[in-house]
Amino acid sequence: PITPVILSGGSGSRLWPMSRALYPKQFLPLAGELTMIQETVSRVAGQRFAPPLVICNEEHRFIVAEQLRAKACSPSEIILEPVGRNTAPAACVAALKLVDAGGDGLMLIMPSDHVIARPDSFLTAVAKAASAAAAGALVTFGVAPAQAETGFGYIKMSAGDPLSAGVHRVERFVEKPDQATADAYVADGSYFWNSGIFLFRASAYLDELERSRPAIVSACRKALAGAERDLTFCRLPTAAFSASPSDSIDYAVMETTAHAVIVPVDMGWNDVGAWSALWDIGEKDADGNVAQGDVVLQDAHNVYVRSDDRLVAVAGVDDIVVIATDDAVLVVDRHRTQDVKLVVERLKAES
Ligand code: GDD
Ligand code: MG
Repeated sequence: PITPVILSGGSGSRLWPMSRALYPKQFLPLAGELTMIQETVSRVAGQRFAPPLVICNEEHRFIVAEQLRAKACSPSEIILEPVGRNTAPAACVAALKLVDAGGDGLMLIMPSDHVIARPDSFLTAVAKAASAAAAGALVTFGVAPAQAETGFGYIKMSAGDPLSAGVHRVERFVEKPDQATADAYVADGSYFWNSGIFLFRASAYLDELERSRPAIVSACRKALAGAERDLTFCRLPTAAFSASPSDSIDYAVMETTAHAVIVPVDMGWNDVGAWSALWDIGEKDADGNVAQGDVVLQDAHNVYVRSDDRLVAVAGVDDIVVIATDDAVLVVDRHRTQDVKLVVERLKAES
């Protein structure tokens, strides 16, 4: 079976004030009844999958354990990072675990904070990808770009014959290009967004990481050798894990490997990076508004308004986002929701 590896170490600062350092977005029910990490584990609950391996910051261990338990999900292990070192070391620790346990099965790397509206299409794509991954390829899942975003990786699919139905070679992988490059890629038409979901053999990932970033592999090995086990938790020691360079799977491996392949998939994917995404995917009324909670709208258009616990009224405005929680209120232009990150940085600096 395939082992899902759930990456849950992000901070989700652009979704402030709901997403907080102590309670980031993957633990919130942002786009449905379930929290985003619960949605994620639910997608891979079938027989083809082993129990998931979750890797998160140690601060969040009880939230993770509790949220999985509430979905009757028993992870094989919850690996706790004392500090964030981005996704390349997180995936490395998971891969080393799998290899040390005597297997070299396939690992399905999954971010814990994405929406996938059509999980069946996702599972079909994973099934298509399995034989290429078993043969040593690093499989990416590509999404047709909706616009020239700079916050994503871009994958150019090779025009040659597919390796098998729906599985193509990758000509180039470019992580987070600048705006002009992103514009050119979207105009070109042969590029996909990297969904951030990957399928590969543990050993294939380790070989590539060893080649491009040996210091990450050696730091992760040392960290695992000194890890403390407690029930399902596996805590990495601070000094050893902090010694790892910080890098993402995308820069460390996907941009540099010769073995990348792509499975394009139309699965209703959205990475819910900022509040505008929740307006994009939300159910709109006749005026294009999305409202959640105790909200009254008067002559408002294309707004996203969300209130946790009190009445919020919005009148005579268009294209704004209003988020009210019990201790903070955010009002932002719907086209400027990336700027929330700047607000959070200021709040951090001033506190
Ligand atoms: N355990 C752990 N430790 N998880 C982490 C860490 C870490 O240090 N840093 C990030 N994560 C988790 C996040 O919670 C998220 O679920 C996932 O790993 C991806 O990290 P992001 O920080 O959200 O990456 P990104 O959005 O900038 O870019 C990635 O995703 C894009 C699609 O959403 C890249 O893969 C891009 O190429 C891709 O287009
Ligand atoms: Mg992301």
